[in-house]
Amino acid sequence: MDSQHIAVIDFGSQYTQLIVRRIREQGYFSKLYQPHELKETGTPAAVILSGGPRSVTEDGAPDIDLDYLLGLDIPVLGVCYGMQLLSKKLGGLVAPGNTREYGPAQLIPSIDNCLFAGLSPSAQIWMSHSDTVKEPPAGAAVLGKNQDGVPVALQFGPELFGIQFHPEVSHSHEGTIILRNFLALATDAKPFRIEDFKQELVTSIREKCHGREVVCGVSGGVDSTVLAVLLKEAGVPHRAIFVNNGLLRLNEVAEVQKQFTQLGVNLETIDAADQFLNALTGETDPEKKRTIIGNNFLDVFWEAAANVDILAQGTLYPDVIESATSGSIASKIKTHHNRVDRVMALHKEGRVLEPLAELFKDEVRALGANMGIPYDILHRHPFPGPGLAVRCPGEVTEEKLRIIREGDAIFMRMLKEHGHYDKVWQAYCGLIPVKTVGVKGDERSYEFAVTLRAVTSEDAMTADFAKLPWEFLGLVSNAILNGVKGINRVLYDISTKPPASIEWE
Ligand code: XMP
Repeated sequence: MDSQHIAVIDFGSQYTQLIVRRIREQGYFSKLYQPHELKETGTPAAVILSGGPRSVTEDGAPDIDLDYLLGLDIPVLGVCYGMQLLSKKLGGLVAPGNTREYGPAQLIPSIDNCLFAGLSPSAQIWMSHSDTVKEPPAGAAVLGKNQDGVPVALQFGPELFGIQFHPEVSHSHEGTIILRNFLALATDAKPFRIEDFKQELVTSIREKCHGREVVCGVSGGVDSTVLAVLLKEAGVPHRAIFVNNGLLRLNEVAEVQKQFTQLGVNLETIDAADQFLNALTGETDPEKKRTIIGNNFLDVFWEAAANVDILAQGTLYPDVIESATSGSIASKIKTHHNRVDRVMALHKEGRVLEPLAELFKDEVRALGANMGIPYDILHRHPFPGPGLAVRCPGEVTEEKLRIIREGDAIFMRMLKEHGHYDKVWQAYCGLIPVKTVGVKGDERSYEFAVTLRAVTSEDAMTADFAKLPWEFLGLVSNAILNGVKGINRVLYDISTKPPASIEWE
């Protein structure tokens, strides 16, 4: 898949991953590389140089081997930093602007050109830069200016372009048209089709494993389910291990087992609930709770996977990218788990298989759908590794787990029945371990409260509370208060992330 793809060179912009996404949305395979990896791109069909936080005028600013790049004789687009780098290396003058230009501007194409074909006479674009090209290189054509007449798009050669703005962000209203026009020049680019990709994965899994046994941990979530079904499709001998840590939702163990039976994957369930809950007894510190759960998982999993030949993990492309950059808490944790010493030792021996490592989540879903995995499984909300423990502040007890299991089951059922489940990123019922006074029948009650949390988000890095209708929340509250013993109050969490997080711990 690497040949005839679109290589994106990462100069560190916060939007770089988005460029890769946008290209894949147009049906072409795309991958991210560091500037020094240019030669490892093989024979790409086109190259995009991303934006970045540095100034090309600084000593030690990220650079690229321009002769090599031009020698590829393929279309090249420099975005922001990428444009400034091309301008400077081709003999133009780049200098700090008077102010940092950040936010919306207008693009007014100056001359007819293939990059801006089909664009409005004036389209909103999104800027985020402080340097500007004061003098374009000799022979460069100005393709477009902003509303103040400042050049924001240059053509340096027949298929060599630079734009000062970010076409990949949605605030650049016609950015997709520009990317599409650029991709149209990449005549060698091979369309990205998930079924072809699946075949390549199956072939590479077979080559890598050649008869050796593969072990994977599964949770019932999207990534590990797709991974296990892919191993089955590849026909390599494999074991799928599912650890019941005692912190799963109502009936989850039975449902995951049923799910895998339907998918034709043989599941080994390890019931370690007592071990986890005993280890958590008396612990109230959130980080210590996480560590206990993480360590117990590793102990249980590795004991079951003893003498593993090859370990398969459901690492996704954003995890790969983010492990190299800052990343979200979730990805750091996941990365951490996917990179513990034991795993690293296997890595060194080439015994770790990460077949989904080039895919984004929606592509993993498309792959799953292609292999016949039902919609409901592929569109399940994310569920954290430490399970209900992060929704149960303070000490975890069986009684508290029962309350949130029952409350959660009611909330999930009603979200689905009322058509809200697919509209939110994640939702759950968590415990507020504070007793308050209420009235039940004619008697005073003194019981815990629960919180409903439902958020919208794109990537879990930021989130907003879901604006669920009051009437619906009222119905859920009523159903939970009537259906779950041990609570007398239901609250709806209206915090955004930041400053709150999605989970309570
Ligand atoms: P927070 O609470 O950090 O959660 O806003 C962001 C996303 O990450 C999930 N999450 C985890 N996932 N292991 C995981 O696999 C963890 O330890 C963990 N902690 C949080 C959370 O459910 C949300 O989707």
